[in-house]
Amino acid sequence: MLRFVHISDSHISTPDFAHYGHRSYPNFEAVVSAINALPFKIDFVLHTGDVVENGAAEEYALAKPLLAQLRFPIYYANGNHDNSDLLQRELIGIHTPNERYDCTFSIKGVQIAILDSSNRRDHTGILTESQLEALRSLCTSEGVPLIIALHHPPVPLDTPWLDSGWCDSNGELCGTMLLENWQAFQSAIAPARARLRGVFFGHIHHACQVWNNGILYCAAPSTFGQLASYPEQRAPQPTPEQPIAFNLVSIDGEQVIVRQVAIPRPATSAA
Ligand SMILES: [Fe+2]
Repeated sequence: MLRFVHISDSHISTPDFAHYGHRSYPNFEAVVSAINALPFKIDFVLHTGDVVENGAAEEYALAKPLLAQLRFPIYYANGNHDNSDLLQRELIGIHTPNERYDCTFSIKGVQIAILDSSNRRDHTGILTESQLEALRSLCTSEGVPLIIALHHPPVPLDTPWLDSGWCDSNGELCGTMLLENWQAFQSAIAPARARLRGVFFGHIHHACQVWNNGILYCAAPSTFGQLASYPEQRAPQPTPEQPIAFNLVSIDGEQVIVRQVAIPRPATSAA
């Protein structure tokens, strides 16, 4: 049995940084406490990106001691709000950062591949041709159970603002949340569907599960704040009344269980 906690989009900045009345830092403190208080052991924590808000060194310096309080190992995907170099140096301990932060590791016979989907130009997501080539080599039909993680959603979610973009208050078209080359991603992973236990992502600030072509796609809610994602919804809409949360994933043979664990916002979260 492999168990992990999937968290995402913590957006840590200053201790007082707030959006729609809630502070990201005390929210994340509450999440760390809740994970540490789980009455059973997990194998690791997966953070699918946007650890910090602006990719700034001071933000990673604030986040680091809080993340160090976790009593389980943590693995990261690089998000569009992250700085890949600082994420690798400050949180992962890589002295000479890679251009893109991809990694693979194995725990209890399950292979986990984390991909850096951040487009360095803007907030959209893309995988390079060399990343797709590596993914094709990884995703053969034969092999051990496999998990893939990345920040941007690699599957359409029946929500126009996520799938096709939206206009901001100035009428400027914002890029899509959907991974730009999601079809190439899906083609690359398809041969491994029988051993692929799930594709885990964040970015959308909303818990969501999709069953597509025999593969489970699963988004973690944000530990900061959620956004509504409904069919026909054409612009992002904060839902500050929703609690912060994380996903608890159990993998036993071919069975995958995803539980969402909601946490009351701490009193200190209110801005
Ligand atoms: Fe993001």
